[in-house]
Amino acid sequence: MDESLSFDPASPVFHENPHSVLGTLRKLQPVLRGRQATALSGRTFTIWHLFSYADIVAALKDPRMMREIRHVLTEEELGRAVPIPEEFRALVDSQRNMMLFRDPPDHTRLRNLVNKAFTPRMVQQLASHIEDIARDLLAPWPAGEQFDLVHEFAFPLPVIVIAELLGVPKADRDLVKGWSRIFAQVLDVEVSLETLLQGNQMIHEFQDYFRDLIDERTRNPRQDLISSLLEVTDDEGGQLTVQELLDMGILLLVAGHETTRNLIANAAWMMCRMPDMAHALRRAPHLIPGAVEEVLRMEPPVMLTSRFLAEDLHIQGIAMKRGDEVNLWLASANRDAAVFGEPDQFQPNRSPNRHLSFGQGIHYCLGAPLARQEGAIALRLLLTQYPRLTLAETPLRWTASSTFRSLTALEIETSL
Ligand code: HEM
Repeated sequence: MDESLSFDPASPVFHENPHSVLGTLRKLQPVLRGRQATALSGRTFTIWHLFSYADIVAALKDPRMMREIRHVLTEEELGRAVPIPEEFRALVDSQRNMMLFRDPPDHTRLRNLVNKAFTPRMVQQLASHIEDIARDLLAPWPAGEQFDLVHEFAFPLPVIVIAELLGVPKADRDLVKGWSRIFAQVLDVEVSLETLLQGNQMIHEFQDYFRDLIDERTRNPRQDLISSLLEVTDDEGGQLTVQELLDMGILLLVAGHETTRNLIANAAWMMCRMPDMAHALRRAPHLIPGAVEEVLRMEPPVMLTSRFLAEDLHIQGIAMKRGDEVNLWLASANRDAAVFGEPDQFQPNRSPNRHLSFGQGIHYCLGAPLARQEGAIALRLLLTQYPRLTLAETPLRWTASSTFRSLTALEIETSL
């Protein structure tokens, strides 16, 4: 194994063009030993990186790959317990409780309950409403104008949809936008202290706001997700507690906003760069859902996820230790030539298209049907409303994130 290959997912080179770096690693070193990390408790462990489709799918389905370190190591092995500073307590507690970061059986119980409320049927019924919201957002920007598509469209559309889905009144949308922006930054791999402090403050504000909304819906249930989440019961008659509802509300907001924003912005960016493809899709709109799948595959809004090893094990003959962390590069799996013919080609009629952008296994994205629907509506409207989409002459900047594939802004010209 060539130990000399270095990989720095926090580097600007990586943010500019992750696919070329990931492509090289996938070919030369599909299992890479990353840096040695030290937890707050003083425990040291290795971070591994997986790049091949087969290894990543196997990992996502493997019950030995866990989310909660306390299920992997004993208290003694975890080292001295570090008290969580009060300034971060709300944030840490809330993240720990989210089902995305939980293992069975807690994850199973939460997921079963929320599955009953967040149904594909509910998502289908939203279609015309999503279209109305999207049209309203584009109304101030007739063809011929130049505007920042991230700021005016890709950012607000999903946050309005989630806020409405949850049952947040229109007048409070801006509050939700502010929280969501900070929460997304907190989820990133590299987070500043200032962001963590802000995140903690936002959790308090969100919880105060949502507690009132939950009280209100307990008294007067409506046709919204909060009311359904309050009602659902599992086979044993169990229900979500108020605290679980609050954590679920934050998770839905965080998991559904930044991600869908990236999907819409990345789709628009790709259309600007492929005018022939944009024309082909205008002529054959039935290919738009397939085009959304290709955007998801080639520019996945979430580039990686991670797990802790619950046992010593080998991947491709390489020994890893219990307690090590494994980064699963979804963005790399999606361009693995062992699974996708001509992986760097955008093919809206690619079938099957088993990209991993929504994950796989027990944590498979709850909001995938909603994201696909929002993505398809947004792309169709952009293509029909604007006969020509081009990038304005401003430098393109990707967010300094190794987790999200996210444009900071996208200035586009929409000439007639
Ligand atoms: C293009 C948009 C989206 C992408 C790319 C995306 C991606 C993902 C991925 C990769 C995971 C699995 C992470 C893992 O296994 O570690 C996930 C889980 C999740 N997503 Fe999404 N997501 C999107 C939109 C949404 C939306 C709109 C919602 C809800 C409103 C949502 C809610 C969730 C939830 C609740 C989970 C956790 C599921 C669990 O732990 O069982 N996502 N998403």
